Amino acid sequence: MKKEDSEPKNISRRKFLKGVGTGVIGGAVLPGVIAAEEKKEPLPRHQGKVLLSLKVNGKAVRVLVEPRTTLAQLLREQLNLTGTKITCNHGECGTCTVLLDKKAVYSCHILALDAADKEVTTIEGLLTGEKLHPLQEAFIEQDGLQCGFCTPGQIMAAYALLLKHPKPTTEQVLEGMAGNLCRCSAYPNIVKSVKAAAEKATANPGNGG
Ligand code: FES
Ligand code: FES
Repeated sequence: MKKEDSEPKNISRRKFLKGVGTGVIGGAVLPGVIAAEEKKEPLPRHQGKVLLSLKVNGKAVRVLVEPRTTLAQLLREQLNLTGTKITCNHGECGTCTVLLDKKAVYSCHILALDAADKEVTTIEGLLTGEKLHPLQEAFIEQDGLQCGFCTPGQIMAAYALLLKHPKPTTEQVLEGMAGNLCRCSAYPNIVKSVKAAAEKATANPGNGG
């Protein structure tokens, strides 16, 4: 991507970041997904599927899954939360990072059933309505992405890092983000973005924490 077209690039990045944040579990009930409040009837069990209950971005979800389904597959293919990306599918690159009970995990590398009765947070869960999370804003403002493919995973790793270290040192940022690869080598600006988001949160406590 050319560096000189910064304005259009910023707009498209903003759209991208908003785009990855809008595939929420919402209006339409997807096949196989049952909102917890509708669970009066016993669910059919067939073809070896297992009933899984968990919370995703603050919403209770019940869904039938094959035991071999990974958490990444569940999020993307059954819950339509496609902001979580799969690249290596082997627990090596971090593009599939989500939070499981507030800890960053590679969602391609754990089974959906391992998330039973736990809370999952994805990139879509960081939005407040249409408003971007301070981390998402910081990645745009600090140019913390190039192609953007690794960005949802980077932001989720940063989110977990800031929960643990609200004012991280550069060393803590490097350590906290070490599990997330960026093929575009946007690392210097990724570090700047995380630090800028931490500063924003310090300046506006309660804003998007
Ligand atoms: S896609 Fe999960 S770690 Fe690479
Ligand atoms: S911005 Fe392209 S892979 Fe990280």
